[in-house]
Amino acid sequence: MCGIVGCVSKENCYEKILSTLSGLEYRGYDSAGIAMLSSSKTLNVRKKKGYVSNLKGKPLPGETGIGHTRWATHGKPSDANAHPHVSGKFALVHNGIVENFRALKGELLEQGEEFLSETDSEVIVKLIAKAYRGDFFEAVVKACERLEGSYALAVLCSDDPGEIIGVRQGSPLVAGAAPDALYLCSDVPALCGAAEFICPASDGEFIRIRDGNICFCDGNGREICKEFSRVPPESRSSSVMSGTFMEKEIAEIPRALSDTFKSLSATDFAPCARILRGARHVYAVACGTALHAAQAFGDIAESEVRCPVSCFAASEFRYRDPLIGRDDLLVAVSQSGETADTLQAARLAKERGAYVLAVTNIAQSSLASLADFTIVMRAGSEIAVAATKSYNCQLLCLYYLAAQMKYYRVQEFPDWFSQFSSLSSAAEEVFACFPQMSALAAKFKDARGMFYLGRGLDVRTAAEGALKVKEIAYVFAEGYAAGELKHGTLALIEEGFPVFAVSTCSALASKTENALAEAKARGARTVLFSQNVSALSESCADFKCALPVIHEKLMPILAVIPLQYFACRMCLLRGFDPDKPRNLAKSVTVE
Ligand code: G6P
Repeated sequence: MCGIVGCVSKENCYEKILSTLSGLEYRGYDSAGIAMLSSSKTLNVRKKKGYVSNLKGKPLPGETGIGHTRWATHGKPSDANAHPHVSGKFALVHNGIVENFRALKGELLEQGEEFLSETDSEVIVKLIAKAYRGDFFEAVVKACERLEGSYALAVLCSDDPGEIIGVRQGSPLVAGAAPDALYLCSDVPALCGAAEFICPASDGEFIRIRDGNICFCDGNGREICKEFSRVPPESRSSSVMSGTFMEKEIAEIPRALSDTFKSLSATDFAPCARILRGARHVYAVACGTALHAAQAFGDIAESEVRCPVSCFAASEFRYRDPLIGRDDLLVAVSQSGETADTLQAARLAKERGAYVLAVTNIAQSSLASLADFTIVMRAGSEIAVAATKSYNCQLLCLYYLAAQMKYYRVQEFPDWFSQFSSLSSAAEEVFACFPQMSALAAKFKDARGMFYLGRGLDVRTAAEGALKVKEIAYVFAEGYAAGELKHGTLALIEEGFPVFAVSTCSALASKTENALAEAKARGARTVLFSQNVSALSESCADFKCALPVIHEKLMPILAVIPLQYFACRMCLLRGFDPDKPRNLAKSVTVE
């Protein structure tokens, strides 16, 4: 969703900006650009369509610079639409959407301004240049007063080498400090390789880097006292020596589960005891993969806690005028903690007096700072756009939460609670089926569509498996409640159509098997995933994948792993990059 960076250093900082931008690339990779300002007050810009790596080459001169990696919203991916945008003495990078940009652009065109791009962002730099009367800060503030929508900006003025002004309104922005450089950046993980201390900005705050200092202030220039914290070691940027980030992140699932489990402690939940014990209605909201985790939480929590749980896509929750209020709990799930719809849903819940509990991978994220209580999963940094290990860890945290809720209400833990400690080794056992998944991917790589079926909790696993193959292998897939197959989608089954069934719930195994048999009878090539020995032996499936045995309620945490790996193999065999799927971005900070 666009990543921005700014850097002021004593030496040339082109390479520093380039490397921080690479760490931000998962936010968008339609184009990239860097503007450098030298002590002789010269601005130089290099920007190109495509990946950040296109900016490699002889460093542009300068000790002050800004950079951008773009996920296109207004205007197609092109060199001209790439940031930074320049007007007069100013260069600017922007993450967000200026909602009133058409009106502003119309006004500027009438005044004779000419635009070089189709972006909303170019409007901002023109407003700054027009407002400039010799005071850089004042010009940025004046321009921001005209903007509606969301933005995080980093701006350079050629009159002021050594200075960057940043501002945050609705899109994330973090300041970072290292002995040799000061930074602005869209998110913590990308900055962690470079900075030693970080401090996120809140909405409405400006960040001024100048004279070797970072200062937070309001629109009147009044300083805001902020505390920097040391960069958490687990959020330091990771790199991949060989293969793809997605493969690396799948391989990290056992460790991520074990780190997350070790970090969870029942006593930590004491501050939210009142709401865990007494919440009238629980809502769970999220987007994408995190939504499937939230839905699994809904299934588990409602059956264990015996309290109503409603799950919504965060984008839908916001606009349905939900009945949420005081004494209700909203659980907001987000790997990044920056997803715009999830944040807005959480804000709405707070406005209505509900208690907001966040589950996120980033302790310093916007979601964590607005929530009443946060569970930080320890998945480690996740770079590939399609979520994998964060999903397994989200599930673990949400199961843990459901168990705590049950305990606070009936002083009893669910019977699966004691098996969390076995999850990590069981996840390692799942890896044994990867060669089989590779072989299946080779068989199905030319499929035009797929079905993933399940019942009960397995519906969530099926939906997540289907999402993965759509996101990265570009194969249309439907994740479906197996009982619904005969009510419509069975019509799509043709000779050779791949149908995967996940069957981990013993009470429903025969029903899932029936659906698989119905598909097979119509020519489908069927695959069954189960830990249930009799379900596997009795199944008519063409291929069977045996999963490790653990309490069946916990199986969603494991059963998704072969599906994640299968999607990755499909993607690679079809010749695509799993880390950077077309049209997508990891952190969706616009609505
Ligand atoms: C994007 C990503 C997905 C992710 C979703 C929610 O769409 O491509 O992989 O699941 O955002 O992200 P979050 O950070 O809120 O979990």
